[in-house]
Amino acid sequence: MNGKLSGKKALVTGGARGIGAAVARRLASDGADVAINYRSSSDAAEALTAEISGTGRRAVAIKADVSDPDQIKRLADEAADALGGLDILASNAGIEHFGELDTVTPADFDRIFAVNTRGQFFAVQNAVRHMREGGRVVLTSSASAHKAVFHHALYASSKAAVECIALNLSPELGRRGITINAVAPGGTVTDMSDHAASHYVHPDVDADFNTVIRTSSSLGRMARPAEIAAVVSFLVSDDASFITGRTVQADGGWL
Ligand code: NAI
Repeated sequence: MNGKLSGKKALVTGGARGIGAAVARRLASDGADVAINYRSSSDAAEALTAEISGTGRRAVAIKADVSDPDQIKRLADEAADALGGLDILASNAGIEHFGELDTVTPADFDRIFAVNTRGQFFAVQNAVRHMREGGRVVLTSSASAHKAVFHHALYASSKAAVECIALNLSPELGRRGITINAVAPGGTVTDMSDHAASHYVHPDVDADFNTVIRTSSSLGRMARPAEIAAVVSFLVSDDASFITGRTVQADGGWL
């Protein structure tokens, strides 16, 4: 198969469902072999690897918890061993949090940052060890990093830091010919948004989430996971060779 990512080897964290699964499918359909990381959904991860393998691409599922730096190292090493190196890291694994200031505990803080921020930082450190010139890293931020939402400071700040990681690692990785960017999705239809949607409605507003999205975003709707995957597909392609350190906001104009 000839695709724009033909011959490339990609690691997708949190790839068993939602946006991560769409990214894994998209990179494979662009021609890449993929290692799909999952934390606990082994059935979904195995089903996705079987689906992708059926299209002629190589796919492996690797269990690892990205909140544990030792497991991230093993994940990157196993992915590179299985695929014969790494060209692409799509760091997607993340967890949501809403909480009133008084209720947030230090343990909450550490749990959210361990996955959303520290997990992404050390995914980069360990994945780029296996990359050569031309390597590509895409981190996952959120539109929430750019918009004030009630009770969302913990999650939003854990994602804003990711944009800073991409910006500030870009000169170091740039010297090695590797680009690093982030995507900041707006509301995207996944399990995460199913659980979190109602929290995005301002407590003084008597409306459901769909009404809020319809009236507060330019496109008036949420994204499909494949639309976010398309942005990742671009950022990891040769066409994005002169873009690094940036965050692409794919939020349907959520202003
Ligand atoms: P999801 O909850 O459907 O999927 C998240 C994936 O990350 C799951 O596969 C989960 O198992 C994995 N994961 C969570 N913690 C992990 C850990 N410690 N180790 C390994 N894997 C772990 O969420 P969704 O919506 O697909 O989100 C994907 C990414 O996009 C996340 O980083 C999220 O913060 C971000 N995002 C999502 C938005 C949305 O509206 N769905 C909007 C903006 C950003």
